Amino acid sequence: MSERTIALVTGANKGIGYEIAAGLGALGWRVGVGARDDRRRQAAVEKLREAGVDAFGVPLDVTDDASAAAAAQLIEDQAGRLDVLVNNAAITGGMPQEPTRVDPATIRTVVETNVIGVIRVTNAMLPLLRLSASPRIVNMSSSVGSLTRQSGPGAEQTTGPVAVAYAPSKTFLNAVTLQYAREFRGTDILINAACPGYVATDLNGFRGVRTPEQGAAIAIKLATLPDNGPTGQFFEDAGPVPW
Ligand SMILES: NC(=O)c1ccc[n+]([C@@H]2O[C@H](COP(=O)([O-])OP(=O)(O)OC[C@H]3O[C@@H](n4cnc5c(N)ncnc54)[C@H](OP(=O)(O)O)[C@@H]3O)[C@@H](O)[C@H]2O)c1
Repeated sequence: MSERTIALVTGANKGIGYEIAAGLGALGWRVGVGARDDRRRQAAVEKLREAGVDAFGVPLDVTDDASAAAAAQLIEDQAGRLDVLVNNAAITGGMPQEPTRVDPATIRTVVETNVIGVIRVTNAMLPLLRLSASPRIVNMSSSVGSLTRQSGPGAEQTTGPVAVAYAPSKTFLNAVTLQYAREFRGTDILINAACPGYVATDLNGFRGVRTPEQGAAIAIKLATLPDNGPTGQFFEDAGPVPW
């Protein structure tokens, strides 16, 4: 079994996920590039390898049970275990998303990817994570899912526009993260949620103000927590985010 730390990043073909893979690779880790599209995944793997990262492609659609199972099998074959899982893949479901006009199908699609997708991939990877001495799980959330910020002053500035599928999907993901942390109590597994800030990526039509590299930093920090590190918490660069 490899002595190097093994990580899997979902949705790693572009945006923040790509930079998380690059950042973990720069630590000398082996990084599985989880991505659903063959061409985009291969291009990302090649680019990471050119940058000196020990990257390997992991075909993975987080909405598909068989795909998650096959991804776990591939990682077992390639590495024998998994040390770090970064659940980064997500969609907004498209804007605008006013609650009074939303198509319920949009909510279903977003929750399927952003919440159930995380549960599906986490559970598929758990047997491999349990083989690690220091398993870490990072769920890429967003402060738009913070009920405290949503209901506080200046919500429009701090949590963006009304978005009845995307924002609650991150609230749901935060709650799910806590449930995992409670079940993992007494084990070595640390699981936390991260907010990358407002980052210029495809997700927001590149309107964000931070770079994907800056957005990746908090996930890298939570992926590299020491054994006595926090679990069941929600962080951004500046510190804890209120639920
Ligand atoms: N950008 C921001 O300002 C911001 C702020 C807060 C939180 N976040 C969170 O940060 C994470 C990364 O977002 P980003 O801004 O980097 O977005 P992005 O550039 O749109 O990247 C999203 C990634 O998720 C992948 N993905 C979507 N659905 C998938 C599925 N069913 N299976 C596998 N992969 C799938 C995409 O793959 P394809 O290329 O195949 O579509 C892509 O690789 C997300 O969790 C997002 O909610 C972003």
